[in-house]
Amino acid sequence: MAFITADRLSKQYRSGEVTVDALKGVSLDVEEGEFLAVVGESGAGKSTLLSLLGGLDRPTAGSLHVNDLDVYGLRGERLADFRSEYLGFVFQSFQLITYLTALENTMLPLAIAPMKAKEKRAAGIHALKRVGLGDKLDRLPHQMSGGEQERVALARAIVNDPPVILADEPTGNLDSKNGEAVMKLLQDLNREGITIVMVTHNLGYTKYASRTIKLQDGGIVPFTDTDASCAVAFEDEQEEGRSIVGSGSAAERRGFSEPAALPA
Ligand SMILES: Nc1ncnc2c1ncn2[C@@H]1O[C@H](COP(=O)(O)OP(=O)(O)O)[C@@H](O)[C@H]1O
Ligand SMILES: [Mg+2]
Repeated sequence: MAFITADRLSKQYRSGEVTVDALKGVSLDVEEGEFLAVVGESGAGKSTLLSLLGGLDRPTAGSLHVNDLDVYGLRGERLADFRSEYLGFVFQSFQLITYLTALENTMLPLAIAPMKAKEKRAAGIHALKRVGLGDKLDRLPHQMSGGEQERVALARAIVNDPPVILADEPTGNLDSKNGEAVMKLLQDLNREGITIVMVTHNLGYTKYASRTIKLQDGGIVPFTDTDASCAVAFEDEQEEGRSIVGSGSAAERRGFSEPAALPA
């Protein structure tokens, strides 16, 4: 079994008479050490998938196994333990607490951890150093740039040393320079062994991932050559004047692989 195995995950949201099929039986395997990008238009179900992979919400149907653990079979505190042991979350709006310093924000996930205050502080400092903010421990969010705030959010996601990071549009609020910096950091963390599932609507960032899948209308559809070409075109737009070297299709050049087919 893969490290993360989602089997026919469905999610319906009901509000009054209206039912929205946000996810329609998505099956997905993520291997340990993968950097998976999830793309798709707004409303395609990306955030829903990510929150289901993180055990933040329950599916209407389907199952999720992480490291052979039946995640939706876990109840209450055991589900909370799973999240704190296995996962680091990064969201689009950094959700930093405005009156806490970079270090205090980073240490938040350790609030319930059975560690001494001194150990928590050391872990927080270590995480901030990993994202290049070792000299900004005592800054408040408003004293940092958007890129720095996003890096604090990343430090907070890795402070508990999780094997998996789930990131929902981590560069959504950043300009391209800061966005690239955050992507390179994610790539470094992935190379250090952390498995990453990242939602992005920016096709240019799929080049950092080892595999890309596309969601459309609640289901996985092939991430096509055309999609990949768009990504390359986007990148060229960003780096004006750089020519594309190499032959073969855009997908081949970028090493994209086809997503796993949906079960019938
Ligand atoms: N809490 C919710 N209640 C009702 N509908 C929701 C809720 N969250 C998401 N949806 C709907 O589910 C669909 C998928 O949403 P979402 O997963 O947020 O898509 P994406 O992240 O790809 O933009 C959308 O139609 C959205 O409006
Ligand atoms: Mg979303």
